[in-house]
Amino acid sequence: MRQLSFTDRLISELDHGLRTVFCRTPARQRVNPAATLPEPHLNTQERRISQGLIRVDHTGEICAQALYRGQAWATRDEPTRQHLHHAAQEEQDHLAWCQDRLQQLQTHTSYLNTFWYVASFLIGATASLVGNDWSLGFVVATEEKVERHIDEHLERLPAADSYSRAILVQMKQDEIDHANAARTAGARILPTWIQHIMTWQSKLMTTTAYYL
Ligand SMILES: [Fe+2]
Ligand SMILES: [Fe+2]
Repeated sequence: MRQLSFTDRLISELDHGLRTVFCRTPARQRVNPAATLPEPHLNTQERRISQGLIRVDHTGEICAQALYRGQAWATRDEPTRQHLHHAAQEEQDHLAWCQDRLQQLQTHTSYLNTFWYVASFLIGATASLVGNDWSLGFVVATEEKVERHIDEHLERLPAADSYSRAILVQMKQDEIDHANAARTAGARILPTWIQHIMTWQSKLMTTTAYYL
């Protein structure tokens, strides 16, 4: 197989980024965990809450895609690159499930997704250049943040919205598994100041994506 040049890889990443942010992502491996449930009837207020929460979850998955792809792009280690591409593909299921739900709820994805994709890609690439253990540390920290906001969303989700709940419950379990896998692979614990920046960034993302 031909070795990809820098330009090939750059074009491939641009293509992947544009598809992730602007196109519908097909589920890669698993069917939507809510697929067999009837679509719940929500009143206007309930629908608005579900729209905002799932939009935030969708943006979280955009960030996860970008983080993994950024890490894979910058790593010099081919097996690590393969592993990260595989991880990004696994996360595509979450992206697809959230997209499906947003469509059912008749609302848009966040207008700021391009910004979050680029920011997360750069964080992933930088972490990867510093070292594998740092890179994995960012995976753990990101997965923990996603798990925490899913927890919060499960509390805030309207009781009637069993469809969104089924998706979030499965996603939460997967994020716990992803974080554990990264810990086992040798993730370092990130310094407190980086974790603070990530918390601030996560708050900014969840607040803006809920409305925008
Ligand atoms: Fe995910
Ligand atoms: Fe994950």
